[in-house]
Amino acid sequence: MPSICVPTAASVPVVSQPHGRCPRSFRALTLAARAPRDRPCYSAENRVGSSCPGLYLRSPLAAEALGKISGMTGTPQAVLSGLSSAARFLTVTVGSGGEKAARDVLAGVGDLCKAVGFRVPGGGLTCVVGIGAEVWPRLFATKPPAHLHPFREVHGGVHHAPATPGDLLFHLRAERADLCFQLATQVVKRLGPHCRVVDEVDGFRSFEQRDLLGFVDGTANPTGQAAVSSALDADGAGYVIVQKYLHDLDGWNALSVEAQEAAMGRTKLDDIELDDKKPDSHVAVNTVVDSHGVEHDIVRDNMPFGAVGRGEFGTYYIGYAADPAVPERMLHRMFVGEPPGNHDRILDFSTAVTGGLFYVPSADFLGALPDPPH
Ligand code: HEM
Repeated sequence: MPSICVPTAASVPVVSQPHGRCPRSFRALTLAARAPRDRPCYSAENRVGSSCPGLYLRSPLAAEALGKISGMTGTPQAVLSGLSSAARFLTVTVGSGGEKAARDVLAGVGDLCKAVGFRVPGGGLTCVVGIGAEVWPRLFATKPPAHLHPFREVHGGVHHAPATPGDLLFHLRAERADLCFQLATQVVKRLGPHCRVVDEVDGFRSFEQRDLLGFVDGTANPTGQAAVSSALDADGAGYVIVQKYLHDLDGWNALSVEAQEAAMGRTKLDDIELDDKKPDSHVAVNTVVDSHGVEHDIVRDNMPFGAVGRGEFGTYYIGYAADPAVPERMLHRMFVGEPPGNHDRILDFSTAVTGGLFYVPSADFLGALPDPPH
């Protein structure tokens, strides 16, 4: 079996870059370094739609096309189905007595997704489920995955990333909101009275893939093989971190466009990465390079959400990674800063109100769940 390069916690420490930035030439080298040839790749028949040159692009066939990846021992869930027009994020706690229903839903969610999605050809409905650390021993007799742990709060000098309850995560994506809504309805009905939806976010795709701060969000996501090795391990499994952020849009919009671009590290209209990024810009802070000069990525599928009447304008952050040490390092750099105090400038206008970490098992795992605990 070909070896798969998965970043370990030990490999993630960041080499300090001058002014926290990763010069372009250096970056090109590290980008090449992070996709060695022996990594698994999608075979032609598993590509997501024939019109897509890379893996990380969405097509109407996304739900069906994401099969086994050559070189992987398992079949992943539809983690890499890409940015969609609509998404719904359900975070659920499993109360005492709800374990059997939770297991039944994990085992049956693939069929449910098919049943709902089949009626809308081209609707691209996908569902990815994640399992939290605290519920694992209540659902399965087997040992939890090596890197599964509760979300670790991050306390910076100024900003704080809280941990909030959550045993199961359902990430529903489709080209139409009704598909996500219908699947969520079926899932929650089957979870029954002992499981509680503690957070539900209805995300929508905004103009030109922009977030509500007005910037194009998702551009630097890895594609192709790099997306596979960033998000998935050799078994087709991985981890996901989710956070709900609320924006102070009045404060943000009071900044000049130049100041906003400096905070983000990209131009606003054209979405071009700045050559002279500030060390506290979002892009500089989230460029994670290890001591060997290899850059580590995650796969992000952020979605805007909001409620105009309540003055709520948000970004639902969702980042998939083969090893949670990578997004955890990013969070440390955002909230604490490296060096401490160099916190991400966008946090001065964005408050994290939830935080969860989940294991994302392969589809094979869901198809043949381990035995329940005795
Ligand atoms: C308020 C919430 C957030 C917003 C509005 C936001 C928005 C953006 C935008 C506009 C970009 C530039 C375009 C792109 O490459 O996608 C970006 C890049 C990025 N963001 Fe975020 N983001 C948020 C939270 C996070 C969090 C919590 C993480 C990680 C823990 C993260 C990780 C990244 C990474 C890795 C990049 C790419 C950096 C590079 O160019 O290499 N983001 N984000």
